[in-house]
Amino acid sequence: MADDLMQKIISLCKRRGFVFQSSEIYGGLKSAYDYGPLGVEMKRNLMNAWWRDTVHSREDVVGLDASIIMHPKVWQASGHLSGFSDPLVDCKVCKERFRADKAPQVEPGQEVTLELADKGRAKTALTYIDEQFGVKLERSGRQLIGAKAGNRSYVCPNCRSPFMSDERNFNLMFRSFYGPVDPMGALASAIESGEFNGLSGTDLRAKLDGFTKDSTVYLRPETAQAMFVQYANIQQSMSLKIPFGIAQAGKSFRNEITVEHFIFRSCEFEQMEMEFFCEPGTEDEWFEYWKETRMSWWQKFANNPENFRVRSHEASELAHYAKGCYDVEYRFPWGWDELEGIANRTDYDLRKHAEHSGSKIEYFDPVERKRYTPYVIEPAAGATRGVLTYLCDAYHEEEVEGPKGTDTRVVLKLHPQLAPVKVAVMPLVKKNGMPEKARALVNDLFRRGINASFDAQNAIGKRYRRHDEIGTPWCLTIDGQTLEDGTITIRDRDTMEQRRIAIDDAVTEIETLLRND
Ligand code: GAP
Repeated sequence: MADDLMQKIISLCKRRGFVFQSSEIYGGLKSAYDYGPLGVEMKRNLMNAWWRDTVHSREDVVGLDASIIMHPKVWQASGHLSGFSDPLVDCKVCKERFRADKAPQVEPGQEVTLELADKGRAKTALTYIDEQFGVKLERSGRQLIGAKAGNRSYVCPNCRSPFMSDERNFNLMFRSFYGPVDPMGALASAIESGEFNGLSGTDLRAKLDGFTKDSTVYLRPETAQAMFVQYANIQQSMSLKIPFGIAQAGKSFRNEITVEHFIFRSCEFEQMEMEFFCEPGTEDEWFEYWKETRMSWWQKFANNPENFRVRSHEASELAHYAKGCYDVEYRFPWGWDELEGIANRTDYDLRKHAEHSGSKIEYFDPVERKRYTPYVIEPAAGATRGVLTYLCDAYHEEEVEGPKGTDTRVVLKLHPQLAPVKVAVMPLVKKNGMPEKARALVNDLFRRGINASFDAQNAIGKRYRRHDEIGTPWCLTIDGQTLEDGTITIRDRDTMEQRRIAIDDAVTEIETLLRND
């Protein structure tokens, strides 16, 4: 059922130009997605709404747009170089590589049945397990029966085998090389000259790292660090008084081992983060304030606000920098999952950057005449994950009576602020001056900054359905009566109700509807 809904959403996204698999004609890149003409509008609408409500509607938050590639020492100071990793395991039977912390849970010693892709693979695996591990299993079709889970409390997510490699930590940051020097050239010469001959695995690794370390840079895995690194410049240039926040929205990159649920987890994604700097001792109050503010922000655009909840992290779940964390979670088709984290990062990051850079990163309170390192509350949201959230929230099917009997209507009940197209303008027929009137109305809407669409293709019923499916909140139709009395119909996407308004009032009407939502 959950898979079914996700499949419908994925298929609608492709069919209607919201999201495509990246490089699809070459077989696609597993974890990368392209936002098509409607997807890019929806993502921008969401990010613009966040910017408007987080930066433009507040006096205490300012913005930043930092570079994606930063000095490598940033990631050393933040702990990402040593600690930003996932526990990675290889299944020895089916060769799947997976995250230990996301694998299916079993009790140690519990009987498990392996399931291979086909009979042939099951036969090969049966012999392999016997030879490698001295374990004799029974085969039934593509299943292998009689294995027991070891002391680890998980099995392979692909074939349920308990036969796997040790866990290894895998750093999630994408590495690249900066500047005109190609370390591969120097490396090739060194190999040719025999510099590497006879080195042990560890020494070889250290030597290889030596060749690349001076030019290695990383694609940022979060937007947050730039806001800590630029804290002093921003505070001083803008003469900001604590408490204040710095907000940034943009791309982040993580070499995720497990990519799952369409755009929910991908290697390249967009974040909307804000670092709120406050006086030590006031952080608990701000932590609660931002939890409430962020939760109600997500609910504001939702049809089903009960599908959002706040969950407090257990101590064992907390990131190395956090004293406390709330997750705003959404009830996705596969269950509750994270949409945004609100963390109390204490003064960890500012202190670390002060320590590693040698710069003074503090705040001087001119009234109390005291100096301190501010504490930070960080609401960190996923914009691309937000797009998926609202697509799930908006997807709706209903049975309606049509000219050919009962039919299923698919509607994306997107909040008008998020809808890619705000209004469709349709001439009922392509004659009698109707298309000209429709085009003139579209141009009037454009002039007021409203994303409108002229649509004269197919019968009117089909056009309404097409716009229902992409979430267009209103359709304006020019018909025979328009030519007589200057009125047009305005159709509401959710109720399908139509009423007549004067064509001259149409732009104001749409502006009012958009403002009221
Ligand atoms: N600065 C803190 C930070 O980055 P995070 O919980 O790792 O915290 C914040 O990320 C949000 O970014 C998550 O709640 C999620 O919405 C989004 N996010 C993280 N990894 C993602 C991925 N691989 N794909 C899509 N969104 C992701």
